[in-house]
Amino acid sequence: MFATTTQRTTRDGEIGSTLVQVEHLTRAITTRAQTTTILDDVTFTVPAQSLFAINGPSGSGKSTLLNMLTGIDRPTSGSVIFGGAELRAKRESALAKWRGKHVGIVFQFFQLIPTLTAQENILLALELCQGNGLPRRLWRKRALECLEMVELGPLAHRLPSELSGGQQQRVAIARALANDPPVLIADEPTGNLDSHSAIQVFDLLAGLTQRGKTVIYVTHDPRLAARANARIELLDGRIVGQHGAQAVITGTTGGK
Ligand SMILES: Nc1ncnc2c1ncn2[C@@H]1O[C@H](COP(=O)(O)OP(=O)(O)OP(=O)(O)O)[C@@H](O)[C@H]1O
Ligand SMILES: [Mg+2]
Repeated sequence: MFATTTQRTTRDGEIGSTLVQVEHLTRAITTRAQTTTILDDVTFTVPAQSLFAINGPSGSGKSTLLNMLTGIDRPTSGSVIFGGAELRAKRESALAKWRGKHVGIVFQFFQLIPTLTAQENILLALELCQGNGLPRRLWRKRALECLEMVELGPLAHRLPSELSGGQQQRVAIARALANDPPVLIADEPTGNLDSHSAIQVFDLLAGLTQRGKTVIYVTHDPRLAARANARIELLDGRIVGQHGAQAVITGTTGGK
């Protein structure tokens, strides 16, 4: 099922089009005692190849929203149309496959496998996605290329414990790029780094938009939020500020 509304999304995310369209998204959690609304009628669009920030105080729903964008969690109501596809329409197994190809995820605490080298961590991502069509014999080369993109080629054989925090996060970015997804989603990617490493890692993420990627990130740092091309601000699960997060409609491939 593809977007049919006026704000059409494009499958490939050509520049100027809408890549992600979130419509009236609500996430509520019901326990025996009560229902808590974590996201409340959230509507916005992410322009393709943008650097897109999600801001807001602790507990405002940022991570919950990212989990909806990656399909890790499902909305209570509303929809996420991502690259022309409605995530809700996908079954769990299809969603996992889709995620592997379309989204690279970067976590605050890196989440590298400690017993694997930098290159092996990236190989694992390729393995999980069967190389996204790349023949197996090219996987090691691809892993090294990803490390070179984050300027860590010479450290490919180090274990995470032999790398600094900033270097580990760069490996995590390289891993997120392994299957060449159009979108990177990063939850506080610099939250665990000193300010020098934070800027280095952020520059790297920001530079990926020049390679055609869309980068959606959560940050508490106002300096990093200010560098976004488009941004939403959440408070108590609602959007209270929105800058440049509306669609620019140029694409014609929405119904492809
Ligand atoms: N499974 C859950 N059950 C109940 N409440 C939840 C659950 N997951 C999240 N919440 C609540 O939803 C709200 C939003 O959580 P979320 O983790 O999205 O916030 P956040 O903006 O990412 O915060 P932080 O900046 O601290 O990471 C919080 O009040 C949290 O306690
Ligand atoms: Mg969070």
